[in-house]
Amino acid sequence: MQRILFGIELKMVDISVDLGFLKLKNPVIAASGTFGYGIEFLPLIDLNQLGGFVTKGLYFSPKQGNPPPRLAETPCGLLNSIGLQGIGVEKFLKEVFPQIKGLKTVLIINICGENDEEYASIAEYLDPYKEISAYELNISCPNVKKGGLCPAQNPEDTYKIVKLVKSSCSTPLITKLSPNVTDISEIALSAQEGGSDAVSLVNTFLGMGIDAETRKPRLGNILGGLSGPAIKPMALRMVYQASKAVKIPVIGMGGIMTGRDAAEFIIAGAKAVQVGTANFIDPDSTLRIIDEITDFCKRHKIDQIQDLSGSLDLDS
Ligand SMILES: Cc1cc2nc3c(=O)[nH]c(=O)nc-3n(C[C@H](O)[C@H](O)[C@H](O)COP(=O)(O)O)c2cc1C
Repeated sequence: MQRILFGIELKMVDISVDLGFLKLKNPVIAASGTFGYGIEFLPLIDLNQLGGFVTKGLYFSPKQGNPPPRLAETPCGLLNSIGLQGIGVEKFLKEVFPQIKGLKTVLIINICGENDEEYASIAEYLDPYKEISAYELNISCPNVKKGGLCPAQNPEDTYKIVKLVKSSCSTPLITKLSPNVTDISEIALSAQEGGSDAVSLVNTFLGMGIDAETRKPRLGNILGGLSGPAIKPMALRMVYQASKAVKIPVIGMGGIMTGRDAAEFIIAGAKAVQVGTANFIDPDSTLRIIDEITDFCKRHKIDQIQDLSGSLDLDS
C-alpha cells in the first residue's frame, strides 16, 4: 500500500486481516471476560480502532458466578474464578447491544451453556442481529464445570457441540479451545470437522493459589484459571501445534502484552490475536499493541501483516 504526501512516496503497512468469513482492520481483538461488554471501555478508548472485541460470556439467563475472592495475582499471572457471571441474553439485547451495535469494529459474542442445547438456543436467538460478526463458543471455561470435564477437553464432545450450534445459526463460529488437554491438535481438528469457521486459543490454564500463612485458598472457588505472561510459552506452543493441524484460521492468545508478543503468535501460525489480562493493567493496551505491531512490520519491511502468519524460520 502506498500513499503520496507532499510529493513523497510513503509506504504503508497493510495490517488488515482476512479470516475468510470475516475481515478485520487489524489483527488485535480484545479477549472475552477482560473487556466487559465493550461499553465499560467506551469512555476509555476508541473501540473503532480495534480489530474487534469479544464480549463477556453470555448464558441465556443471568448468572451470579462464583463466590469471592475471584481474582488473585501470581508472579507474572492472574488467577480468576469469575465463574461466567453475566447478564443473560435478554438484558444484553435490551441494554448493551444498542450501545455497541453501531461501532465500526468487529463484534464477537462469547456464548456459554449448561448443556449443548443452551449454546444452540443462544446462537439461534441472537442470529437475526446482523451487527454480530461472529460467535465465540466458550466450551473451555476451567472454573464452571461441576466435577466433569468441559466439552473442549474431549474431541467427541467438541465435535458434537460445534455441529449442533453450527446447524442452529448462520452467524460464523469461532470455537474457543482449552489448554487443559494432552493433544490440542486433536481438539482443534474436531472443531474443524464439526464445522467451526475458526478456532481461538487458549482459554486459561487450571490453577490454584494458597495463602500459606492462613492455609486458605486464594480463590473462593479453590480452583481457577491462570492467564497473563506466565502462560505465554505454553499458549504459543499450542497455537503453533493447532495451526499445523487445521486449515481454518487460528486466533491466538495467552499473555500477549506487547506488539512483539503478538508478532510471536502470528509467526507461530495465528492469523489474528486476542489480548486479555493486559487490559487490566492498561485499558489502552490493545491500541498500543496495534501501533507496536505496525512498527514491527515497518522495521522488518513487511508490507502485509498476513505475510507474517506462519512464517517461523526453521532453517538452521
Ligand atoms: C477475569 C477473566 C475473565 C475471563 N472470562 C472469560 C469468558 O467469559 N469467556 C472466555 O471465553 N474466556 C474468558 N477469559 C479468558 C480470556 O479470554 C483469555 O482466553 C485468557 O485470559 C488468556 O489470555 P490473556 O493471557 O491475554 O489474558 C477470562 C479471563 C480472565 C482473566
